[in-house]
Formats: sequence, C-alpha cells, structure tokens
Amino acid sequence: MTNSSSLERHAAGPGFFLMIVALVLPAFCWAQTSGEQLFQASCSACHSIGGGRRVGPDLDGVVERRSEAWLGQFIKSSQSLVKSGDAEAVAVFEEFSSMVMPDFPLPDEEIAELLVYIGAQGSNVPEVVAANVAEETQAATPVSADHVLKGLELFQGSTRFSNGGPGCNACHHVKNDAVIGGGILARELTTVFSRMGGDGVGAILGQAPFPVMQAAYKNQPLTEDEIAYLVAFLQSADEQHLFQQPRDYGFGLFASGALGAGVMYLFFAIIWRGRKRGSVNQEIYDRQPPSHN
Ligand code: HEC
Ligand code: HEC
Repeated sequence: MTNSSSLERHAAGPGFFLMIVALVLPAFCWAQTSGEQLFQASCSACHSIGGGRRVGPDLDGVVERRSEAWLGQFIKSSQSLVKSGDAEAVAVFEEFSSMVMPDFPLPDEEIAELLVYIGAQGSNVPEVVAANVAEETQAATPVSADHVLKGLELFQGSTRFSNGGPGCNACHHVKNDAVIGGGILARELTTVFSRMGGDGVGAILGQAPFPVMQAAYKNQPLTEDEIAYLVAFLQSADEQHLFQQPRDYGFGLFASGALGAGVMYLFFAIIWRGRKRGSVNQEIYDRQPPSHN
C-alpha cells in the first residue's frame, strides 16, 4: 500500500515522467545497439543496407519483401531453406551464383533485433548500382605463385601473422599435397573459393562472422596483404584439388590394415599350432595342497 501511494505522489509531478524515461530509454537504446552490433559483426562483411550489392544482396527493404518467419529461417540456415525447395530462397541462391551464405543459428530474440535494425536502416537511401560481384568471381584472375606460397605458409602457420593470430590449420583443413593435415574443429576449406568467391572469402577474413574465428583474431586482425595471400592460396587449392593426392587414404588404408591383421593371425595360428591351450597358472594352482584359514 505504501508503495502504490508513493507512486501516486510521484505521478503528480514531472519526476515520475523523467523516471519512466530514464528506465525505458536505456533499454530502447540497448536493443538498438545490439541489433546494430550484431549486424556489424556478422553480416556487414557481405551485406549493405542501401549501399548496393556486396558478396550478398543489398538488404534494403528485405524486411518488407519477405516474411519475418522466412527471414528467420534463412538467417539460421539458408541452405536448409534452399534444399527444401522454397522458390524465393532458390531464386536468390541462384542469382548469387549458388554462393552459400553461412548459417547463423542465433536465438530468436537476436534475429528479431537484427530485423528491427535492418528495417530501420536504408529505405530512402539512393539506389547504388553495384558491381556484379558474382560475375567477377567466376572470371577469377590467375594468381601469382608467390602469393599462393605466402598464403600456404600463413595457412599452416610456418610464417607467423604480423599481428600474431593463430594459423588457420589450427581449425581448418585443406586437401593439398603441400599442406600438413589441419584441424577438424571447423569446415574443410578445399572448395570454399568456388562456394564463396574471392570477395566472400576476403570478407570473412577481414571480419569473421563466426564467433570462434572472431575470438581467435579479435585483437590480432589479419593485414590486407595477408588476406590477399590467403585468398590466393585458397583459390589455387580449389583449382588444383582434383589433381592432388590427398593424404586421406580413407577406406583403402583401413581395408589393407584389416587384411594384413587377418594374415598375421593366420600365420600365428599355424606356427604356434602345438601351443598349450590351458593356463599355466591354473595347473600350478591345482597342484597346491588345499590351504587352511
Ligand atoms: C559470407 C557472406 C555472407 C554473410 C556473412 C552473410 N550473408 Fe546473407 N547472404 C549472402 C549471400 C551470398 C546471399 C545470397 C543468397 C544465397 O547465396 O543463399 C545472402 C542472402 C541473404 C538474405 C536474403 C536476401 C533476399 O533478398 O532475400 C538475407 C535476408 C540475408 N542474407 C541476411 C543476412 C544476415 C542477417 C546476416 C548476418 C547475420 C548475413 N546475411 C550474413 C552472404 C552472406
Ligand atoms: C579458432 C579456430 C579457427 C581459426 C584459427 C580459423 N577459423 Fe575459419 N572458421 C572457424 C569456424 C568455427 C568457422 C564456422 C563455420 C565452420 O565450422 O566452418 C569458420 C569458418 C571459416 C570460413 C567459412 C567456411 C564456410 O564454408 O562457411 C572460411 C573461409 C574460413 N573460416 C577461413 C579461415 C582462414 C583462412 C583462417 C586463417 C586465417 C581461419 N579460418 C582460421 C574457426 C577458425
């Protein structure tokens, strides 16, 4: 009772109004910034809002074009939607030369904040005629052997990054004769160049949209040159992967091992066919006089 009467007293003056503003405003700002932060950290490498096409489509007006449920599904896993045969998803996917957008399994509240931010941006920003990234990607320029080698050394950590980040093969593997086997924490990158194009890979390296990678390079970003070398290496690994003898001998290795073991067991069975079958210990034990306790 005392509570409600003190509230009523405040309601009479402007203090009450200020109190409400003071309580609501930070919450409102927080929602704003977290949508923005999410977008900057996870999406801006590939998307602009009203700034034209980058690796992916311009997201200006996307909130009006698509339903919220569709957007949520697409952001969480665009490929699941494409594979389910959803016409709109298939159309954007094909328009972007079947470039795969990474999955963002974010909680629903964060997706909602993202969409609020995307919806609030753009709209009356003038249309920018952007270069057709996807086409540029297909006509990939040949890479210099020197860049490829530098990229390879950075990838496997035999050259250190100037800002000291970890080598990529701590977490990733690329099938290539020259590469020491890499980690399996994250996806294999052998054909990532075909999937994302040089711009896509470059965008990811400049500002990784994946939390694990973000943490690894947060205070030790890659330099522009390092990114160019790595992209060159990934392009060449992708082009050459069909000609490589991967170190992954797979089932052949397993099968020859199993066959070899079989032959060995057969061999032992033959040379030791006259061996004692029972346990020696058991015979000694049986010979002892019974013990008394
Ligand atoms: C590595 C680049 C990359 C990143 C990072 C990325 N996207 Fe995409 N995005 C794409 C590409 C490429 C497409 C085109 C469709 C496809 O390839 O599946 C796309 C398509 C979309 C679409 C469909 C657009 C339309 O017109 O229907 C939405 C929505 C979208 N992205 C939102 C996001 C959001 C939100 C984030 C951040 C959480 C994000 N994307 C991060 C590359 C990316
Ligand atoms: C600490 C571990 C870690 C390190 C180090 C790391 N990454 Fe990643 N990377 C990840 C994770 C996790 C993902 C998220 C998706 C996945 O599992 O592939 C990812 C995704 C990627 C992707 C997108 C793959 C795809 O198909 O969606 C590329 C390209 C990539 N990394 C390149 C690199 C390069 C080049 C380096 C070295 C500069 C590097 N990464 C270092 C953990 C790492």
